[in-house]
Amino acid sequence: MTANELRKKYLDFFQSKGHTIIPSASLIPENDPTVLFTTAGMQQFKPYYTGEKDPIKNFGARRATSIQKCFRTSDIDSVGDESHLTFFEMLGNFSFGDYFKEDAIKWAWEFITKEMKISPERCFVSVFEGDPAVPEDKESVEIWKDLGLTDDKIKKCGRKDNFWGPTGDEGPCGPTTEIYVDGIEVWNIVFNEYYCSADKSLEPLEQKGVDTGMGLERLAMVVQNKKTIFETDLFTPLIETNRIMLDHSRAIVFLISDGVRPSNKEQGYILRRLMRRVMAKKSVESINIENLLKRIIEEYKKFYPELNEESVLSVFREENSKFQKAIRQGLRELEKVGKLDAVSAFKLFESYGLTFEVIKDFAGTKAASLNQKDFDKEFKKHQEISRAGSEQKFKGGLADASERTIKYHTAAHLMLAALRQALGDGVAQKGANITAERLRFDFSYPEKMTPEQIKQVEDLVNEKIKENLPVKMEEMFLKEAKALGATGAFESKYDERVKVYSIGSSTSSASAFSREICGGPHVNSTGEIGRFKIIKEESSSAGVRRIKAIVE
Ligand code: GLY
Repeated sequence: MTANELRKKYLDFFQSKGHTIIPSASLIPENDPTVLFTTAGMQQFKPYYTGEKDPIKNFGARRATSIQKCFRTSDIDSVGDESHLTFFEMLGNFSFGDYFKEDAIKWAWEFITKEMKISPERCFVSVFEGDPAVPEDKESVEIWKDLGLTDDKIKKCGRKDNFWGPTGDEGPCGPTTEIYVDGIEVWNIVFNEYYCSADKSLEPLEQKGVDTGMGLERLAMVVQNKKTIFETDLFTPLIETNRIMLDHSRAIVFLISDGVRPSNKEQGYILRRLMRRVMAKKSVESINIENLLKRIIEEYKKFYPELNEESVLSVFREENSKFQKAIRQGLRELEKVGKLDAVSAFKLFESYGLTFEVIKDFAGTKAASLNQKDFDKEFKKHQEISRAGSEQKFKGGLADASERTIKYHTAAHLMLAALRQALGDGVAQKGANITAERLRFDFSYPEKMTPEQIKQVEDLVNEKIKENLPVKMEEMFLKEAKALGATGAFESKYDERVKVYSIGSSTSSASAFSREICGGPHVNSTGEIGRFKIIKEESSSAGVRRIKAIVE
């Protein structure tokens, strides 16, 4: 059975069970700003699970089926093995307050064993075993048993494996039952019974739903009896090439066609990384990438008419010419450096556009200890500073984003909170200048501080450093930040989204020691700062005092 036949069989099957066929949504989610990409078929249906939108009114049924274009960065490190991809197609059927566990499981089993003719011998399933928050899914176990599965074919697993969602910060989610064929997970059947809020608490949904997701590539692999997804007909018509190249090139084609352009931000940054990895690999494998992209478009255009050869190639060429200029010099530089850590790797990105994967691919053992998490941290620090600079929202006046400077920055937040405790709420920040050596801070106060007041502020800051309090960042609307008593950023508009840094043992309640609207960056906890000392207190201008302080 070809992949094309699989797509058709799936949609036909669920249409015959009363589902409306809904086209794939874009890879860029329209109604969920908290996620960068569409990662699951259910994403476009989120408002139907919560009752915000009426499925009957919009597509005439409480059930839908789709083949959704998906992109996940979570599996990027596994790409190249037999079953992981960044871009993939997800077959899904969905119920919004309509059928539930019994039909969902029976139909899935019918599709796998009858339509796909996969022998039950090759299958096992998993169900949710229960935990303190969500009960064990006994009902699914019974349904599987009714279908003839024996106990040894029904595995019980916990949250990590058998609970799905939400996508983004919040949304529908619930326990799952999953079908494995030849040991590969092919179908995830989610019972959306809960709404998970941003604080991660679960509330039962008013109406229960079903959300299933089956990777087309994996289904094709088991139906076509192949050992890897790359041997299926979804890939074989394409030029024989490295798996990573193949995965990334497919993702590039779909992302560009859905409007993503390479940049150093959000979706654009992910696209740039995929593109540059492919471009760098090309230089060692002498592959004609343009041909590969064209073949992919040709192959997939039958099913995805939005694929646009002209824009894919022109975006590719432009990025390629930028990258080719930089890479030779960058690789020479890479040869010169010794062991690479996140800071030196990020410098290579900043100066020569060498992305994380390119550095990893080319640096060999030098980059053995370099990991994505530390690199991303460095990237984030940098982004926060440049964003703050360009939007001029940030009055912190940081000289750079070095570790020491950042310590001073967090110390400045502690000091402002301490000043307000010692001198009253009339104290407001009037300016700051922070370097790796010292902190200079101007604030409104009508008279000279007494030595006792200075000591009080110093002691309070040092007490909070000693308590090693966590520093937490949350994004919210300015009005929410104000309602929480956050200081700073008076020039922002009321309905603007801002970042709020809180320092305190319970940063989520109103009792945080410090809470400021700020672009960052900050240390993760106050214990990193060191000893705080005020070395000077003087007048800056009428009604404004200036403190110079150091940390040791
Ligand atoms: N929404 C189900 C899945 O992505 O597996």
